[in-house]
Amino acid sequence: MINYYFANFKMNMTFEDIKNYTDSLLKIIDGNKNKVGLFVSHTVLCQTKELLKDTSILVGAQNVHYEEKGAFTGEINASMLKECDADMSLIGHSERRKYYKETNNEINKKIKILMKHNIKVVFCIGETKQDRTLGNARKVLYQQLSNGLLGIYENELENIIIAYEPVWAIGTGETASNKLIEESVCHIKEIIKDLYNNTISEKIRVIYGGSVTPQNIKTLSKIKTIHGFLIGGASLNCNNFAEIINN
Ligand code: PGA
Repeated sequence: MINYYFANFKMNMTFEDIKNYTDSLLKIIDGNKNKVGLFVSHTVLCQTKELLKDTSILVGAQNVHYEEKGAFTGEINASMLKECDADMSLIGHSERRKYYKETNNEINKKIKILMKHNIKVVFCIGETKQDRTLGNARKVLYQQLSNGLLGIYENELENIIIAYEPVWAIGTGETASNKLIEESVCHIKEIIKDLYNNTISEKIRVIYGGSVTPQNIKTLSKIKTIHGFLIGGASLNCNNFAEIINN
């Protein structure tokens, strides 16, 4: 069932912007039973959580450092996210893998520290255009999942949602076809079965991200095997995000 709608604001939205945005959003999606969440910048995390504390909107961070604390200038640790009462954190987004050279091993340590602090994770994976052209998409998903989830216990997977985001579809307007998404979700489930077991593989929640818009949401919503969407660009406009949620 599709019921997760997560907005990834990336490096956008001041607290002033978020106040106006959520004010309108709450009115438009009033009564909607879906699970809606916003991944905001660290600087506005506490304020946004406080602002939305009496609503059903979840608030998450976009990243965390994998160490408990220490000499890591400019970084934010899991206790700091917890202090803001963050519901969740994005981990392994392709922009972080690309621009900040995040490795599968670091991603694994980040997931572990978040599990330890009881913060839910939206774990992003996805192949590049080149991986796909070279026929390596499946292998890349395997590496990302097997390394990223190394040492993560079965029961912890209840607190992890996998976001399948083909890198070539992010911010490009080139949405993956339903067929390709279905095939990839099937691979992801096979990999989870391989790493854990059949029950876990059936239970694992997978959402799709990559150029989701109000225009293509109806088509994408026909995919039976996904549980929701992670929306970047289109989520920056409150009406567009609401239209996607209410579709
Ligand atoms: P997009 O971004 O919707 O702009 O493609 C998705 C994401 O980066 O999570």
